[in-house]
Amino acid sequence: MTFPAQISAHLKTALQALSLEAQPTITSSQDPKFGDYQTNVAMVTAKQRKTNPRALAQEIIDALGETPLSTICAPPEIAGPGFINFRLLDPALAAHTTSLLSDPHLGVPQAETPQRIVVDFSAPNVAKPMHIGHLRSTIIGDALARTARFLGHHVTTDNHIGDWGTQFGMILYGWKNLLDHTALEADPITELVRVYKKVNATTKEDEALKDTCKAELVKLQAGDEENVAIWQQCIDHSLKGLREIYSWLDIHFDHYLGESAYNDRLAPLVESLLQAEIAKISDGAACVFFPEDKALEEHPCIIRKGDGGFLYATTDLATIDYRVEEFQADQIWYVVGAPQSLHFQQIFETSKKRGQTVKLIHIAHGSILGEDRKLMRTRSGESVGLLDVLHESIERAKKAIEEKNPDLQGEEKDKTSKIVGLGAVKYSELSQHRMTDYIFSWDKMLALTGSTAPYLQYSYVRIQSIFRKLESNPDLSSQEIQLTEPAERTLAIKLAAFGETVPDVLNDFRPNILATYLFELAKAFHSFFEACPVLTAESESQKLSRLALAHQTGRTLKTGLDLLGIEVPDRM
Ligand code: ARG
Repeated sequence: MTFPAQISAHLKTALQALSLEAQPTITSSQDPKFGDYQTNVAMVTAKQRKTNPRALAQEIIDALGETPLSTICAPPEIAGPGFINFRLLDPALAAHTTSLLSDPHLGVPQAETPQRIVVDFSAPNVAKPMHIGHLRSTIIGDALARTARFLGHHVTTDNHIGDWGTQFGMILYGWKNLLDHTALEADPITELVRVYKKVNATTKEDEALKDTCKAELVKLQAGDEENVAIWQQCIDHSLKGLREIYSWLDIHFDHYLGESAYNDRLAPLVESLLQAEIAKISDGAACVFFPEDKALEEHPCIIRKGDGGFLYATTDLATIDYRVEEFQADQIWYVVGAPQSLHFQQIFETSKKRGQTVKLIHIAHGSILGEDRKLMRTRSGESVGLLDVLHESIERAKKAIEEKNPDLQGEEKDKTSKIVGLGAVKYSELSQHRMTDYIFSWDKMLALTGSTAPYLQYSYVRIQSIFRKLESNPDLSSQEIQLTEPAERTLAIKLAAFGETVPDVLNDFRPNILATYLFELAKAFHSFFEACPVLTAESESQKLSRLALAHQTGRTLKTGLDLLGIEVPDRM
């Protein structure tokens, strides 16, 4: 059990003894002067009771005296307007750190009721390039899926790609009339996008062409053999290109169930909603109305257009059914940009009206901006291709490595550049609050100092280099930890905090909590390493204890970065 969980349990016992009702929160103290953890529960409950918070804090501390808190903490102290401060006893902290050394979960408690969670993320649209905007969903979704799995949930990742829709009318026309087959073979995504853009631009002035494209679309929807075959080839080509990007990013999906996978379900679904009077016909269209909901009152969800066509929303409703039936989903997480929040509210409310109990969560995010604070574009005004961004990051990382460590050569240099370059892009995303619009800056993300992937990777490498200096690697898995110096203590508290931090990521779906934690851990390690000689420690037992602290820091950095989808090199 984590320290805050233990303190909280004792605190609950004490509150009960005083007949106080509250859910105490325990936070880490920012300043060691105030102990290691603190709670404001006396202030919260004093308000309820209309008594003096400091006096109540003393009563709570007295009641805590009747609990086993004293086995892990020094007598709590009152601070300021009524905070209660807790300071861990060194032997308790040392014993806990020792136990972490052999814990495969590094102190992270496993979920009490594991959930079956479908994570819907990335989901680009076929025949359009995956651009920098898709990066956020892709990287955040992957980090959340990894974190949920680590906590013991059953996670299914599903890439709900946009492989059906009106754009195919234009793509079909373009394929039949404008396609350069040699270019398609060489670079399918670029050629498909070229064709799509050309047709799209021409339809703006050419009404007749618009109708021709519509006719192609209608034929596709009716199952016309030729059009279906072309459509299938487009999907295959696009998927090939997408898989290449995901493989660069080391991101894997359990399923690629695109929108088209649900086509057969749409008509019966709309019928059943009409039958159940959840939807009704309005101006020829089938709509779900939400008169009871202020935010949605004026935004009915259209599920079948007047011309009989189905919509994005219809597909999403059918997708929920499928995920509940096939994956027994308890929860579905949609990692999709904030502009789609109305869409998801409509879908979620409709699902509720249908009596579904699956928990549906829209995990929204903001945009990525260029250094000019506008949405990121290339000079010619196009959005920036993701693969180009990744390649550039790797090239820049390689240059930095060449300067810093010219000994690194050949395959190892290439591999390290990839790990550092991709790590930089991922971390610069994940260290931001997901709702902020952040500025994409190469210099910032590749810097060796500050909250960056290279800094964390370098910290890991530095730890590995300590062990390379040893003649043989000692078994540290049950090493007794000694805490004598303040820097050792601070590092031990940080190591213990991994157990609180990882579950916290899922409270509001914020990988940046973990990123910040890892940065603080690395800083605590560097302070420790400066203050405490390891290889030249005073005694063999102190040396082994310090090696074990370094080892555990390395494990925690590696595991934490892995949850963010970031690898670590051995040298850099
Ligand atoms: N393809 C959509 C887009 O690029 C995102 C799909 C998100 N997932 C979903 N189930 N609606 O905007």
